[in-house]
Amino acid sequence: MFEDTVVVVTGAASGIGRRTAIEFAGQGAKVVVADIDGSGGTDLVAELKAAGHEALFVRTDLTVEADCRELIAATVETFGRVDVLVNNAGIEISTPLHEMPEQEWDRLLDTNLKSMFLCSKHALREMIKARSGAIVNVCSVGGLVAWPGIAAYNATKGGVLMLTRSIAADYAPYNIRANCVCPSIIDTPMTDAAVDNDPAVKAEKAKLNPIGRMGTPEDVANAILFLASAKSSFTTGAALAVDGGYTAV
Ligand SMILES: NC(=O)c1ccc[n+]([C@@H]2O[C@H](COP(=O)([O-])OP(=O)(O)OC[C@H]3O[C@@H](n4cnc5c(N)ncnc54)[C@H](O)[C@@H]3O)[C@@H](O)[C@H]2O)c1
Repeated sequence: MFEDTVVVVTGAASGIGRRTAIEFAGQGAKVVVADIDGSGGTDLVAELKAAGHEALFVRTDLTVEADCRELIAATVETFGRVDVLVNNAGIEISTPLHEMPEQEWDRLLDTNLKSMFLCSKHALREMIKARSGAIVNVCSVGGLVAWPGIAAYNATKGGVLMLTRSIAADYAPYNIRANCVCPSIIDTPMTDAAVDNDPAVKAEKAKLNPIGRMGTPEDVANAILFLASAKSSFTTGAALAVDGGYTAV
């Protein structure tokens, strides 16, 4: 479905981003892997190339504008254009607000929200020239409802939701769509870290999803691919819950 499509995935060295990059490549896309994790990114691109796919790793600190500019420039230099941008990278910090140092707040905002602004800014310039493009942002159910105990994270994801809708509104005249996915708890290294790798806590968390299990990176990747594809050609500004029913109750 994505033959000759150039797709940039941020935070692609791990978890949801990694699976998303693999799924896009499997459907014929040329995939640019962006991550601050040099070894994880290099390993993934080696794996994709070994499977016969076209891929490029660009080591990127997404909180730094020069890096995001270089990410898009390297993509255009290598593959000629940017058709799809998946703004996926993010971190979770669960320090209660009344104890959160200012620097932690800034790091969370920079990683989860400013990064999406910076990559979108530079990708949009290419998409405007092409009069075509799709941006998919990885938000969270924390952008829709107040997930308990992670107020600052929720605030970043609320920002992601409105950034998505605003890009959709402002760039629709250029035939550029923007949507986001809102996962609940997904089985990734981020979740392992959040529960200190405790299987019992993980099992309890999984029960929060009415569907009775944790989501998989594939569950989220499938929704991302749909929103990046022509199958969703009349969908823009949407927030697709990928949450096993978490926000339905
Ligand atoms: N795991 C969940 O339960 C869950 C739920 C809802 C939303 N999300 C969102 O999904 C996205 C992916 O999460 P995940 O669970 O796959 O996490 P993960 O920790 O497995 O992967 C995140 C990736 O982002 C990269 N990254 C972090 N900071 C970066 C920076 N400054 N520059 C470049 N790369 C950076 C990391 O190196 C890592 O490879 C995040 O936006 C997260 O908020 C996750």
